[in-house]
Amino acid sequence: MRPEDFDYICRMLRDRSGLVLNQDKGYLLESRLTPVAQRHGLAGLDALIAKLRAGGDDALSVEVTEAMTTNESFFFRDEHIFTGFRDSILPRMMEARAAHRHIRIWCAAASSGQEPYTLAMILKDAGAKLDGWKCEIIGTDISNQILKRASDGLYSQFEVQRGLPVQLLVKYFEKDDQMWRIAPEIKSMVHYRKFNLLENMSILGSFDIVFCRNVLIYFDQVAKGDILGRIAQLMPADGILILGGAESVVGISDQFIPDPDQRGVYCKSNAGQSAPVATYTTKLAATSANLAQATPPQSPVTAVTLTAAPASAPGPAAAAPAPVISAPRPAAPATAALAASTPTAAVKPAAPAPMTPAAAPSVPAAAKPAPTTPATTVSPLAKPPAPAGTSVPGTGPAKPSAAPADDSGQANRQPQGARN
Ligand SMILES: C[S@@+](CC[C@H](N)C(=O)[O-])C[C@H]1O[C@@H](n2cnc3c(N)ncnc32)[C@H](O)[C@@H]1O
Repeated sequence: MRPEDFDYICRMLRDRSGLVLNQDKGYLLESRLTPVAQRHGLAGLDALIAKLRAGGDDALSVEVTEAMTTNESFFFRDEHIFTGFRDSILPRMMEARAAHRHIRIWCAAASSGQEPYTLAMILKDAGAKLDGWKCEIIGTDISNQILKRASDGLYSQFEVQRGLPVQLLVKYFEKDDQMWRIAPEIKSMVHYRKFNLLENMSILGSFDIVFCRNVLIYFDQVAKGDILGRIAQLMPADGILILGGAESVVGISDQFIPDPDQRGVYCKSNAGQSAPVATYTTKLAATSANLAQATPPQSPVTAVTLTAAPASAPGPAAAAPAPVISAPRPAAPATAALAASTPTAAVKPAAPAPMTPAAAPSVPAAAKPAPTTPATTVSPLAKPPAPAGTSVPGTGPAKPSAAPADDSGQANRQPQGARN
């Protein structure tokens, strides 16, 4: 590939999705885009890039961008996050929202749905404690293809064996030929819509809890800081952000502070109340030349129905939420009747498949996160009292047989020098 073609495709991907592709990850272009070229009857990667450079085919650019995303996900990924959500974050949020009984949760890179459905199962298992509560889960992703999968709620044997406790499999899934179909009662708790993290987030409304996991690792420092800053603006002062195991705010954004008690959990800092930040595009324009063509709006997800989202929770950044896309509700009843005879042993998940990150840009030495000082950090989540009772005994996810790798292909761990 000619260097100018490589530069072109890298710029295109970064401008459209934030993905940073380093020279050493060039092989990913070959492996992920050759099938795209074949689908379009093109001789290979060079021909595909020539067609992109000729312009005028936005659908092709969207397809190429989607093909370069890494969609790795699994149920209860990073078990401690979901235990913390169930036993600490949710009870505290319920306490804080007792007056209006409304909690909005955003899975900002929902991929094939395992993360939002994990949350939905936890909320469902909270049972009567959430009676009278409205808990919204919005799952968004840049990829139409992966959102279609999430909306379908169909998972392979391999996928349900990764982290999902067997009692939840029995309770909330039913066999559909060779696949497992998630119960309508869980599926209907999650609303999906296509959304690019580089775009204006205010159309989504405000969120009490944001899961933005295992996506920022693909972006550069400017994009990470910008996205975190804009997420902060969507949250009330006591909003909670949850990042992936290889991600951190430290050295990137002063809008959040790590929760000293929960790895991967972040609370808004006072800086989170600061003035709006410039959009990524604005910052990008200042740092490098943009593609000649502006990224046009992308087409909406098909095969899902549009419903109006209910009013958002009050908060400083509250805005009327845009219509959200909800998964179609199958008529078949859920399989909850099986729950009475649920075995207690969890499925032992297979070791996660090796992941092939599109890019995992390293933090420049100067920007390396400094060690945090948890002792002086004030966190709304610190030292929780007895949980408000949302704990569901015996439903903890199975321990993976090997430490799950993160999307950079490494065992989950915090960046050097920053435990959170
Ligand atoms: C590795 S998956 C993470 C899934 C899930 N959050 C988890 O941790 O298991 C990353 C997802 O981010 C999505 N993504 C990549 N760039 C994005 C962008 N600019 N806006 C929204 N989603 C994006 C990809 O399509 C992919 O599904």
